[in-house]
Amino acid sequence: MCGIVAYIGNKDPKPIIIGGLHRLEYRGYDSAGILVCNNSEYQLTKITGKVNALSKMLETKPNIAPHLGIGHTRWATHGIPNDKNAHPHYSNSGKLYMVHNGIIENYDSLKMELINRGYSFYSDTDSEVLVNLIEEIKVKENVKLHKAVQLALNQVVGAYGIVVCDTFNPKELIVARLGSPLAIGLGESSFYVGSDATPFLDHTRKVVYLEDNEMAVLSKNGKINIKNIISDEPIHPYIEELQWSLNSIQKGGYRHFMLKEIHEQPKAISDTLRGRLLVDKGTIQINSINEYKEKFLNAKRIVFVACGTSWHASLVGEYLFEYFIRIPVEVEYASEFRYRDPIIEKDDIVICISQSGETADTLAALKIAKEKGAFIYGICNVVGSSISRETHSGIYTHAGPEIGVASTKAFSTQITVLILIALKLAELKKTFDSRQLHDYQAELSQIPGKIEQLIKTSSSIDEIAKNYSDSQNCIYLGRGFNFPVALEGALKLKEISYIHAEGYPAAEMKHGPIALIDKNMPVVVIATKKTNYEKVVSNIQEIKSREGKIIAIVSEGDETVAKLANHVIEIPNVSECFTPILATIPLQLLSYQIAINRGCNVDQPRNLAKSVTVE
Ligand code: M6R
Repeated sequence: MCGIVAYIGNKDPKPIIIGGLHRLEYRGYDSAGILVCNNSEYQLTKITGKVNALSKMLETKPNIAPHLGIGHTRWATHGIPNDKNAHPHYSNSGKLYMVHNGIIENYDSLKMELINRGYSFYSDTDSEVLVNLIEEIKVKENVKLHKAVQLALNQVVGAYGIVVCDTFNPKELIVARLGSPLAIGLGESSFYVGSDATPFLDHTRKVVYLEDNEMAVLSKNGKINIKNIISDEPIHPYIEELQWSLNSIQKGGYRHFMLKEIHEQPKAISDTLRGRLLVDKGTIQINSINEYKEKFLNAKRIVFVACGTSWHASLVGEYLFEYFIRIPVEVEYASEFRYRDPIIEKDDIVICISQSGETADTLAALKIAKEKGAFIYGICNVVGSSISRETHSGIYTHAGPEIGVASTKAFSTQITVLILIALKLAELKKTFDSRQLHDYQAELSQIPGKIEQLIKTSSSIDEIAKNYSDSQNCIYLGRGFNFPVALEGALKLKEISYIHAEGYPAAEMKHGPIALIDKNMPVVVIATKKTNYEKVVSNIQEIKSREGKIIAIVSEGDETVAKLANHVIEIPNVSECFTPILATIPLQLLSYQIAINRGCNVDQPRNLAKSVTVE
């Protein structure tokens, strides 16, 4: 949560930082701020609201020809969103400025100590405590800024990504990380800093990702020094060359990132399959599975750990793994798993799924499972993310950057990866014969084309959405492979349209939720053909008898449900294990359209942030 951008060099930092903050707004957007300075002056601008408001306010200020700047877009943790709690924060002397992402857990005791030493505080944030602690140490110990930062961080409990500068000596930026990502872009005698690399993609492709417990001193003369915060050991920077295209982080003519990302799914899934699904050879190639083949073959149990949409994908994984490889699977909320002293046995494999690879609860759960001796496998989208680096092995989804807060292509590519793994393990464990596996492989290769077709013929969804844009509640039902899709459909609707929505296994209706059904209740039912179809049709009858409004996702050519439902949306006929990918698409579009009709900001829904790096 929270986005950080900073720059030191010969260019004007303002457009770099404002442009960068726009790209990081997915991380938080309740307030924003920027500090710029030159050798003799500095200028602080902070505002409640989005980066656009900050940019407008900045235009009213005189240009001081700065060469250094730090900026921040905030997702509030300590202190409500307002101007004074917005970052950058400054020390009592007014010399040191800092932007911070993360939470200083022991800020209260540190604050009391600082108050006892005469410090005062203008904000309610934990971050203001840290910048003053740095100042206190700098003065008391008479050390350079980087040393004061290091000593202060050794007293801190919690998580941070920070950039600190001294406006009275603006020759360097001090950057440090523990638990909150930071990327450093290397320019011509200049440095860019971002919570990820997107802010500086159009300035440089050379990037150094800081590891946990590392700090860097970035000097105006182009020098970079990295060291370990605890051991003080110098670290040689590992420079990576970014491969992302600028198009992938722009809206590309779409009204919203979410819509663009929904439409990108055929390509994203093709990218996930590329080089892995080898239909001609009748096999699937996943290096990380081949390398740890024995572990997977000997696994007694697989435990999925994830949050939100990635947790829903994990549930699909449970159905897939049970079906294809007959192995016991458990699906855990990372936030529960981490605090439960979970039982991890030898020969358990823990699979962590995360789009961002930075979700704090998933990362913490991963570390606990690792300590307990499990083999940890990661499924991430963001290359080089914390989770992908902490796992023993893993696979990337290759969905490309997902900017819309609501996950869309991340979900469908996670399921695609899970299908690939399930098919690969079925091949290795010989739970299916090669003919059957080849048929599944061939069918999987057709999925991107089918999604493309489905999206092209989805205009009826806009009409359906009109009927339900004023609804207060909505129920989603599905069974088997499509129960997780019902959960995901409900999450999509509530997070971007603020309509209360719940997903249930269809048969659970009669155990309580059916009491909610009346003529005002829309019920979205995934009623595709095969297992349980007749049972879901009975559930639809039960809803109809109680005058609920039925929106059914059905297999192409279905006539039975069409007679019962108020609206039907057809998806192509595919094997049941592939339906979650296809059935999800109309639900994404339906939520999107309802949210648009309600005038909601779909890319930046209230109270949310894309990457949840706090507990
Ligand atoms: O980056 P992750 O996949 O770990 O994120 C987990 C959840 O925060 C995320 O899936 C969230 O639920 C979605 N953005 C909802 O659309």
